Amino acid sequence: MTANYHLFKSLVTSLLETKTKEEEVVVAQSLSVLYEKLLSTHIPNKAYANTQNTHIDGGIALSSQDALNCLKDPLRTVRFIKGTYQAIQKAMEQFPQEKIELLYAGCGPAAPIITPLLCLLQPKKISITLIDINPTSITSVKKLIQVLGAQDFFRNYELTDATLYQHPKEFPLHIIVSETMDKGFSKEPQIRITQNLAPQLHKKGLLIPESIDLYAEHIFYSKEPYFDIYKNVLELGEKTPVKDTQRLFSITKGIYPSPEFTYLSPIIEVPQNFTETPDISVFAEVSIFENQKLLKSESLISNPYCITSLYNLTSKTYQLKYTTKGIPNWEVIEV
Ligand SMILES: C[S@@+](CC[C@H](N)C(=O)[O-])C[C@H]1O[C@@H](n2cnc3c(N)ncnc32)[C@H](O)[C@@H]1O
Repeated sequence: MTANYHLFKSLVTSLLETKTKEEEVVVAQSLSVLYEKLLSTHIPNKAYANTQNTHIDGGIALSSQDALNCLKDPLRTVRFIKGTYQAIQKAMEQFPQEKIELLYAGCGPAAPIITPLLCLLQPKKISITLIDINPTSITSVKKLIQVLGAQDFFRNYELTDATLYQHPKEFPLHIIVSETMDKGFSKEPQIRITQNLAPQLHKKGLLIPESIDLYAEHIFYSKEPYFDIYKNVLELGEKTPVKDTQRLFSITKGIYPSPEFTYLSPIIEVPQNFTETPDISVFAEVSIFENQKLLKSESLISNPYCITSLYNLTSKTYQLKYTTKGIPNWEVIEV
């Protein structure tokens, strides 16, 4: 079997060497083009282009096409790949005698956080399980791995819900990777997936992202820098004034497993003068692994999320309430 996964070698070498955002954007574009070519050449019936989302308790799972579009979120893609590579190296140091067991929950049709790295790894040293809830993503990724001649790296391809999945206990997980979130933890099931999977990690295992910090603040939402896949992330405009920024909570591997995650903020005061910052917003900063981070507005997942306008409030104080029950969402409670 030809190991076609080596065709990522020069690209991933450049990717791991990137030092500036400009370099990261260039390499992410090349990666996206390469995947589009690979998928359109080898996947029958364009299964990867399916646009059907899946609704589960805990969040919406993106369709294959939407998951593929995440590749066009350049800093996210490059930094998750870098962070995952760093985590694999760290796990190999920490567990020198063991085969590294890695679970990638929410792989989409291309598993882009791990497939480019295979050319730097050896199948006898790492065993990977891919999970996605969308059938067209699993059929596409399975076919892609076959085309790349990389089957020896993979334990399994699971068509299942990662909020419920149980990994075989005889293979303790050294690394879990999951990027299943939308801005401000809205809509998608990152938290519920973390609640289910993090307790299945080896005691010294590594979760990617290591930590996601959720902040609230008052902003002028329509003037804020905001990334989408049709914009150049390097040209989002100047930062605008914000007020009252505070960290509300962090999601790490120490998260409680059940019941479903809910949160109520401390009481927040409505500023006396809010003409320059009329909106209540939350945003996440993502610490992927060690020095790999996504700061506010650097990606789809660290964009600000507007909950409501302060003009809609009648009281002088409020609390923010978040729940992952059903579809994750925020509400304002006036107090
Ligand atoms: C934001 S996309 C990321 C795709 C790809 N990993 C990447 O980084 O480009 C999230 C993926 O997670 C999958 N997903 C979301 N919730 C899931 C769940 N509960 N169980 C399994 N897969 C899920 C979606 O179907 C989608 O393919």
